[in-house]
Amino acid sequence: MSVIPIRWHDGGLKLIDQRLLPGESTEIHYDSVAAVADAIRDMVVRGAPAIGITAAFGVVLAARAHYAENPDNWRESIKDDLTMLAGARPTAINLLWAIERMRNCFADIEGDPLESLLAEAKAIHAEDIAANQRMGELGAGLIESGSSILTHCNAGALATGGYGTALGVIRSAVMAGKVEQVFADETRPWLQGARLTAWELLQDGIPVSLIAEGAASWLMHQGKVQWIVVGSDRIAANGDVANKIGTYQLAVSARHHGVKFMVVAPTSTVDMQVASGAEIPIETRTADELLKCGDKTVAAAGASAWNPVFDVTPAALVDAIVTEQGVVEKPDREKMLAMMQNV
Ligand code: MRU
Repeated sequence: MSVIPIRWHDGGLKLIDQRLLPGESTEIHYDSVAAVADAIRDMVVRGAPAIGITAAFGVVLAARAHYAENPDNWRESIKDDLTMLAGARPTAINLLWAIERMRNCFADIEGDPLESLLAEAKAIHAEDIAANQRMGELGAGLIESGSSILTHCNAGALATGGYGTALGVIRSAVMAGKVEQVFADETRPWLQGARLTAWELLQDGIPVSLIAEGAASWLMHQGKVQWIVVGSDRIAANGDVANKIGTYQLAVSARHHGVKFMVVAPTSTVDMQVASGAEIPIETRTADELLKCGDKTVAAAGASAWNPVFDVTPAALVDAIVTEQGVVEKPDREKMLAMMQNV
């Protein structure tokens, strides 16, 4: 595991600015919850588990400020900040999960909350890394020797506390000597695959071949890939999976071509409050992300664009959901409920 995207240092939060990778690896220091919410919204940090961990440290910063200003009533005065933080991005449930866990933690604190909340945020971070390592082992166990794998977006160390979900499985499968070749698709428009997944894998000495997203079905048709392995931003109670836009078309094509489809996500990404994927809010971002490439306009002047950044893959197209609690094959409501009962 080569990269730690989030760390508490010098009384504040440090985030690697993922917008600059792979050209530049720069950390930004945060000491206010408003700035942390902006960092989440503006994609300095991205990926569901990483967003959750960042939010947990954001709650620490908020509590510190409110306690300093209003030691007798800080639990009341912090509420607006938590609402603002929760609204930074809509699809990744880890954001709300982490804020809720921090809220439960501060309910019982007497006096200065800093130490207890910081310990809780660090625990959330450490548990995420441990979950990723466990999922890595479990997911790699499903992969047959000699397989080639295609992944989408970035579900690696950068998107989590460390090690990664989908990339954790790929890392573990590579270490077990099972992987013939790793493919990553570019993942337009933010290019998380080309910029982040490729960078991470190469840092670990794992060769990676990039493909345009439009090449995925043809790759499958040629028999060049046996598994699609992806992460998730939110998994519904019936096993429907929200993930980066483009995941759904990979799952449809995988089923058509007899390629297996694995989703790797910690239980903090499972939202048993939503019955199916139809209830998951899907973030739509600015059209400029499609009309421009960086600062340069590339689309024809006058073209408009629709830019949903997540989609939902129905459970019926998923061969396995891997969490730190185990593997759910052919997920459905009953199997998800049974798995979540251990959490
Ligand atoms: O818009 P992003 O980059 O935050 O989207 C990230 C993804 O969709 C990831 O695949 C998902 O969060 C899983 S990360 C372990």
